[in-house]
Amino acid sequence: MQNWSLLIKELLHNPAHIGAIAPSSKSLSNALAKHIPQEKPGKIVELGAGTGVITEAMLEHGIPAEDIIIVERSASMVHLLREKFPQITIIHGDAIHLDQYVAQESVKAIISSLPLRSLTQDIVQTISAHLDNLLTPGSYYIHYTYSLFNGSGHTAQNLQKIHTQRIWRNLPPARVEVYVRQ
Ligand SMILES: C[S@@+](CC[C@H](N)C(=O)[O-])C[C@H]1O[C@@H](n2cnc3c(N)ncnc32)[C@H](O)[C@@H]1O
Repeated sequence: MQNWSLLIKELLHNPAHIGAIAPSSKSLSNALAKHIPQEKPGKIVELGAGTGVITEAMLEHGIPAEDIIIVERSASMVHLLREKFPQITIIHGDAIHLDQYVAQESVKAIISSLPLRSLTQDIVQTISAHLDNLLTPGSYYIHYTYSLFNGSGHTAQNLQKIHTQRIWRNLPPARVEVYVRQ
């Protein structure tokens, strides 16, 4: 219930940056987490972790907490995330500055809940350029969209889509997309 009430509160306060009417379901969270490559070394960066349900799924899939870095813009969400996951690095910041936050890290996957379709084109282009520049060949970008049939939201040039799956058990239904950096 804590997840729902915080998300709705944030949605009313800042609809464009939340872009969701409910926390991600277990089905959606699992469908995202299962694609993170476990065998490769490197960090997993989670953008817009919100209430942390996808973070939870990553931990349940065996991703070590010390391998996860969260970047979340909302102070209230960061407060909740720090309570839930004291062992995870949580950056209270904006994904448009992602290059500064992870400059020293080797990143093997970026997993995102960012509502790209409701953010401004400038922001989407900046974040997409970070995806192109920070990911090295063979690393992953994994996200979901509420656009069930087409359109991914990002404008990154060097990502090849390798998997897509519709998740009906989510409010609203969503589509997972998995990309590999070329
Ligand atoms: C769709 S909600 C997250 C839903 C999450 N999967 C959950 O179940 O709680 C999107 C999240 O992205 C965050 N966000 C939006 N724009 C951001 C940005 N530019 N940088 C970092 N976080 C951002 C919002 O604060 C919000 O927590």
